[in-house]
Amino acid sequence: MGVQQKYDLPRLQPGKLIKDATVWTGADYPDDRSWVFALDAEMRGEIDRCMRIAMARGIDPKDITPEDFPLERTAEVLTELYRDVECGPGFAMLSGFPVDGWSEEEITLAYCGLCAHLGRITLQNREGEFILEVTDKGKKYDQQMRGYHSNAHLGYHTDGTNTVTLLCLETAEEGGLSRLVSGPAVYNEILRTRPELIDALHRGFFHHRRNQREPEDPPVTPYRTPVFGFYNGLFHMAYAGPSIFYCEEEGVEITPHEKAALGYLEDVTQRPDLCAAMELRKGDIQFVNNFLILHSRTGYRDSPEHTRKLLRLWLDDENSRRIGPGKMDWYLPEHSRFTRMGGIETLAAAE
Ligand SMILES: [Fe+2]
Repeated sequence: MGVQQKYDLPRLQPGKLIKDATVWTGADYPDDRSWVFALDAEMRGEIDRCMRIAMARGIDPKDITPEDFPLERTAEVLTELYRDVECGPGFAMLSGFPVDGWSEEEITLAYCGLCAHLGRITLQNREGEFILEVTDKGKKYDQQMRGYHSNAHLGYHTDGTNTVTLLCLETAEEGGLSRLVSGPAVYNEILRTRPELIDALHRGFFHHRRNQREPEDPPVTPYRTPVFGFYNGLFHMAYAGPSIFYCEEEGVEITPHEKAALGYLEDVTQRPDLCAAMELRKGDIQFVNNFLILHSRTGYRDSPEHTRKLLRLWLDDENSRRIGPGKMDWYLPEHSRFTRMGGIETLAAAE
């Protein structure tokens, strides 16, 4: 949506404390949901009309464009919300998405049509899914599997592309709380208290590609991805602890200094005062900037009446000034816009 043309971001330098709207703590996001954007009846009517027209035209949800889904009033809210995602705290929540009264096919098309205004819907895994159901399919979260089909607690990490978004269709009987931490707040805290560890996090780590590769491909990425990067003068974070440590089993050495840096990073992210914890209610859509925010999820328990179910999209925004390495480049490099633009080697050459 090109919001950064309208809202200047200060140009950052590595090694300096970050002092802008991307730095926040849990106290800024109280449980009262006062910070949540809401769709009203008029906007829901607009979304419904767009969905029905797109459905009649037979548009494939994953290919839908903003032109196929011409929102007006709702687009004003989306612009404001996306300013927060791109230039502010790095996340936003939109409530009141009309999930009742529609078929699953209609919900999916409406959700994709709305989200297409914030970026192109991208592939999320090697199984070929653009629209992913996050639900417990009894899968173990381990070296071979990613976490979206398990009910396990997921530690803090980033996803792929600019924005990850979740639409809540049903909540669990218990648990499944979403937790967010500001990457720049974590960076500042490490810089302030253990500055000797920052270099290791700037240098980054190799990542295990789990089952997200062709059998003939090596199991580990051929390059390090920085945990903290500054590209285009903007903060970028990319982190998935398990994918780093699984590399040891493939013979990659992680030095004691690097382990100290990763351990301290985990300690800081776990600090309760830094975290914004939120329940995703039915009809909520959460938007998270992967370059700014670490997200985690508590474990959960379903019941026959309450089986947690979310839809997830990854949105690639070509207008964003943030473009850096991340999960897309570990698991789906051939589909990553960053890799296509030259990837990590281009960044290294430019430094
Ligand atoms: Fe995730």
